[in-house]
Amino acid sequence: MDSLFSDGSVRPDLLKKHSRTRWAALPDGVIPLTAADPDFQVAVEIREAIMEVGREGTFSYGESHGNLGFREVIAKTVRSRKRIPCKPEDVMVTSGVAQAMMLVAKFALEPGDEAILFDPVDFLFGKAVDEAGGKRVYSRVDKESRRFDVDGLNELVTPRTRLLCICNPHNPLGRVLTEAELRGMAEVVVDNDLVIMSDEIWSDIVYRGKRHVSTASLGPEVAERTVSLYGFSKTFAMAGLSLGYAVATDPEVMEGIKRAAPGYFYTVNSVSQAAGEAAYSKAWYWADAFLKHLHDLRGYVCDRLSEMEGVRCHEPEGTYAVFPDISSFGMTSVEMTRYLLEEAKVAVVPGHGAGFSYFGLGGEGNIRLVFSTSKGLVSEALDRIEKALSKLS
Ligand SMILES: Cc1ncc(COP(=O)(O)O)c(C=O)c1O
Repeated sequence: MDSLFSDGSVRPDLLKKHSRTRWAALPDGVIPLTAADPDFQVAVEIREAIMEVGREGTFSYGESHGNLGFREVIAKTVRSRKRIPCKPEDVMVTSGVAQAMMLVAKFALEPGDEAILFDPVDFLFGKAVDEAGGKRVYSRVDKESRRFDVDGLNELVTPRTRLLCICNPHNPLGRVLTEAELRGMAEVVVDNDLVIMSDEIWSDIVYRGKRHVSTASLGPEVAERTVSLYGFSKTFAMAGLSLGYAVATDPEVMEGIKRAAPGYFYTVNSVSQAAGEAAYSKAWYWADAFLKHLHDLRGYVCDRLSEMEGVRCHEPEGTYAVFPDISSFGMTSVEMTRYLLEEAKVAVVPGHGAGFSYFGLGGEGNIRLVFSTSKGLVSEALDRIEKALSKLS
């Protein structure tokens, strides 16, 4: 099983061809630790499922919100792994979680309504709120303690507040929210009659000693206001297949999300659905081995970064991203990102940027590195970063 994630299993020749936002987008020789998109080939069972659909060669329209067989497999998985009492009709299959986020925002927000987001957080949340014409209201997360200001949430609620956006496990801080934190957030939501967008795309990437609690598993009163989002990009390395789904156990909420979908939103392509079904029914062994590989790498990455003069790094409890603080170098996140690209030939993501901000204002002073690749590549990237940073002190 180890060979699935060995140094030799990362194939730059294939990645240069297929990894269009990272490997193919950067000059030869650059190690891309940017988008959270594993460098490994998917489980053989997923490939076989795709080839089987190809051999049959029939590509008719599917069911508009996901094929029943696939939704049955999803519902069973959500019941057992996420502890949400989910039925096939509570599932809407989408072309990735990013798309589902837009639908939830459109469902929950009228133009001018407010959504509470944590800062820093993945840019997709802000983008979803903007698309719906909503107003972003930020709750700042203290990056040192990585504690969420649950008590302060009430002060952010106004008569226009409609939505609370939760990212759990959190990208980019790597926190797995505790049940107490989630219950605190849920209380604010129930008291003020809000909707929760609970993006749990990272919930299969949780390290030993931590337990992911799904927001919708907290009880019926919370579940009826929660839309849970899950995907296949992070757990099964299927980002290019654009596949995800939303779970809403309240029929009115599910209807509302479906209504929020634009007219051109028909069906999700049948090849991706076949791949997703194979992943959930046959490829958990692959995901488990992937998690073990990541667990071994996580300590190594954080130890190496923490040993570098001027860098402060927290170990993620979940996700395969680290978000080290580089503010001591007197450079902005963007300047450091440019410096590492030129000097170390390693591509990372700036925590914040003047034009486009990946993680919001709260990300300034940090960079994000993704380690879902081989130990060999990660160690080479860290050697190069160490050398480049040593030139600055
Ligand atoms: C928190 C979060 N949500 C959503 C996405 C996008 O997911 P998908 O590839 O399913 O659209 C990402 C990808 O990085 C993410 O980190």
